[in-house]
Amino acid sequence: MSSETAPRIHRGLVGVPIGSTKLSNIDGQAGKLFYSGIPIEDLAYGSSYEAVVFLLLYGDYPTPLQLSDFRKLMAKYRELPPAISDIVASCRHANPTTALQVGLSALEEADDPGHPLDELALKIIGATASIICTHHALRNDETVLSPDLTLDHASDFYRRLIRRSPTPLEHDLINLDFVLHADHGANASTTVARVAASARASLSGAISAAFAALCGPKHGGAPAAVAELLDGIDTVAGARALAKDYRDKGLALPGFGHRVYKVQDPRVSLYRSGIERWIESTGSATLASLDLVDGLIEEMKPFLRMGIAPNDDLLAAVLYKVLQIPNDLFTSLFAASRAVGWAAHYMESIANGDDPIPDLFYEDAELASK
Ligand code: SDX
Repeated sequence: MSSETAPRIHRGLVGVPIGSTKLSNIDGQAGKLFYSGIPIEDLAYGSSYEAVVFLLLYGDYPTPLQLSDFRKLMAKYRELPPAISDIVASCRHANPTTALQVGLSALEEADDPGHPLDELALKIIGATASIICTHHALRNDETVLSPDLTLDHASDFYRRLIRRSPTPLEHDLINLDFVLHADHGANASTTVARVAASARASLSGAISAAFAALCGPKHGGAPAAVAELLDGIDTVAGARALAKDYRDKGLALPGFGHRVYKVQDPRVSLYRSGIERWIESTGSATLASLDLVDGLIEEMKPFLRMGIAPNDDLLAAVLYKVLQIPNDLFTSLFAASRAVGWAAHYMESIANGDDPIPDLFYEDAELASK
């Protein structure tokens, strides 16, 4: 194959449209994010996760009555089917991401064939939260707390995880994280969900595959990587030295850079204001993490002109520390929120009639034929 006829390789599918969507829209140059046309800033502190789930699954923001009914519908799916609870219990000594991967894969067994996809999506969203809470209790040899169906999704999730009722501010912060991580265009894990949809794999299978992609440190594994870094430094000078070391070694510093955003990720300032609210209300200076993060940002400033700016995971890691979430649960938390994005894109892909993604070309395709 001559070089003129060889297919142009789009590494990482950069710039290759894979379908059409009405879900989230990202303006990487302006640093803007919209869910079904609504700016993320209008949803971050004023909307429940349930309202965002409704918006992404049905395309409209719910009326108060719709939201009240929808909250009750979502709540009932937080009850894990006994068969899934047993499977999660069998993984009690595994790490949380392995347990969640096994639990999600097992959901296919619980799929009632013929269930409407939106209801299946709610089952999976509810089960994802409960699998995480169930496993966390069992690995700590504690009793598994049943869902409190009177609470909203984020509150109940956090209550079951930390085993006490969240304060109003903690409720706002965990809900904020659920809202900010709900959807984000054709990121790696969502693209995996859409590829699975194009092959008409099951919804739970697509979500299980998407979660596997999310776990990569370049993607949803980044908040935990940021937290590990922060745990190893205790001064701003140390933070700056660490960032310089990464730059000198040509390594990608977790929490910075983005496939789409070439300016700061708009979710960063929304996370930051939540963290600052926490510091103000608790008067706690223990949030040296924010100072350390600012040290990293300062040292990485020269990269801004290359389009490498702070991304959501840099501040999400600090928020999880505020909420006393263990580092090894960060990726699972990300998945607990993004489950709706994966489901919505799967449903949209099926509705669009997206064809199975054909074999993608390989650079040395001609070698294969020799
Ligand atoms: C998420 O896509 C999404 O929407 C994802 C997400 C979502 O909500 O779903 O937003 C969540 O995954 C955010 C990203 C979390 N990942 C990290 O924080 C890990 C660190 N970041 C890098 O791995 C990187 O920035 C990527 C993978 C996120 C994006 O990479 P790019 O910009 O598409 O391209 P690239 O990796 O090829 O880097 C281009 C250049 C390289 O330099 P050169 O080799 O050309 O000299 O930029 C450099 C890179 O070395 N670079 C960095 C850097 N990120 C890129 N250099 C230092 N530190 C970094 N963080």
